[in-house]
Amino acid sequence: MPDLFSPFSLRGVTLRNRIVMSPMTMYVAEDGCANDFHVMLYGSRAAGGFGLLFAEQMAITPDGRTSTSCGGLWKDEQIPSWRRVTALVKKMGGVAAVQLGHTGRKGSEHRPWEGGTQIAPDAPGGWPVSGPSPIPYGGHRTYPVHELTREEIHGLHKAYADAARRAVDAGFEWFEMHFAHGYLGASFFSPIANQRTDEYGGSLENRMRFHIEAIDAVRAVLPERFPLTMRLGCDDLNPAGIQFEDALVAAKVMKEHGIDLVDLSLGVNTDQITSVPFNVLGLMADRCAQMRRECGIATAASWNLGRPDVADRVIREEKMDLVLLGRPSLSNPHWPVWAARELGHASPFDQLPEDWAWWLRNLRAEPTCVGWPKPQNVPDPEAAPLDPNSGYLSIGNQG
Ligand SMILES: Cc1cc2nc3c(=O)[nH]c(=O)nc-3n(C[C@H](O)[C@H](O)[C@H](O)COP(=O)(O)O)c2cc1C
Repeated sequence: MPDLFSPFSLRGVTLRNRIVMSPMTMYVAEDGCANDFHVMLYGSRAAGGFGLLFAEQMAITPDGRTSTSCGGLWKDEQIPSWRRVTALVKKMGGVAAVQLGHTGRKGSEHRPWEGGTQIAPDAPGGWPVSGPSPIPYGGHRTYPVHELTREEIHGLHKAYADAARRAVDAGFEWFEMHFAHGYLGASFFSPIANQRTDEYGGSLENRMRFHIEAIDAVRAVLPERFPLTMRLGCDDLNPAGIQFEDALVAAKVMKEHGIDLVDLSLGVNTDQITSVPFNVLGLMADRCAQMRRECGIATAASWNLGRPDVADRVIREEKMDLVLLGRPSLSNPHWPVWAARELGHASPFDQLPEDWAWWLRNLRAEPTCVGWPKPQNVPDPEAAPLDPNSGYLSIGNQG
């Protein structure tokens, strides 16, 4: 039976454990390029023992960013900056992953700490946003949405492939399509955002066409040994939007097109939602289990898996293959080795790069002397309840 610390292999890539730093837009990139901040952020988490580390959503075109401070791979000049990140991640024993995306009608925004509102298309830092249909998202996102033409859609598929080729060149070894959180892929999948009458809209088959063509374009340029995964918005939490049953169909079809693992998340195509499940521990665990069983595909998810006993349990119960940590990885760069201590792992420092772990294993001292807290109340995974009333605060629509 695997646990949180078991290695995991997909195609030709093996991760040292099941712990993944979830993709998080940081709003500090410069013209799509990584800088010292990104080297620090991902390097420290790789040194802290994360097995797979996602860089933030990487825009395939400049208008596919959330803000002008977001990362991208739409031109060759961006490659060397991201190579610095991937090289350090690899040196620290991690695998660097890239999430290819386009923000669609949720682009052209201020940074969250500067208000996060949408910027007018003709104002500094703004641009005309686009989507499957000319329907603004709503709320603060009221500017007109350009309905993409067929030619523009084909151009975007080429942009996905070009960005994937650049990502390979930059040293990424794991590739994910971002089809969640109300961005372009999610909006093509959702009947709320996609009201087209051509072959890209209407039936579920048509609403998956954008994704299938994007996947085919990316898979064609990826070396066989690299995994291709997708973050799929599997529920709009609205009866008129994406339903989980749609996601089950999509997983089966997209698996045939080369998707190796589905990272389940929310649709976020509308703020008109029937429930607010953001505090539920292991929110996606049962759906991951169902998709894994019914579609025969590896699954993963984020959302409130930051408690070590919960993260370990969803892997042991084979509900999902990987655990993604967003806010927990921001708050604790050493989450994997901390979790190993908390769970009573026999050799917690094994999660760290060997030239670092060696010192901690061999220069023995009382944990308090080296500033390392003793594990408290090592939980019994069988007994730990998934308490829906505890957990994390809602993050709204961060990415
Ligand atoms: C600051 C921030 C930025 C985010 N940016 C992205 C992103 O670029 N791509 C994405 O798929 N999800 C993004 N997310 C969502 C996280 O990857 C994750 O799915 C979410 O935080 C839930 O996981 P958690 O409960 O472990 O935090 C972002 C979340 C945060 C907090």
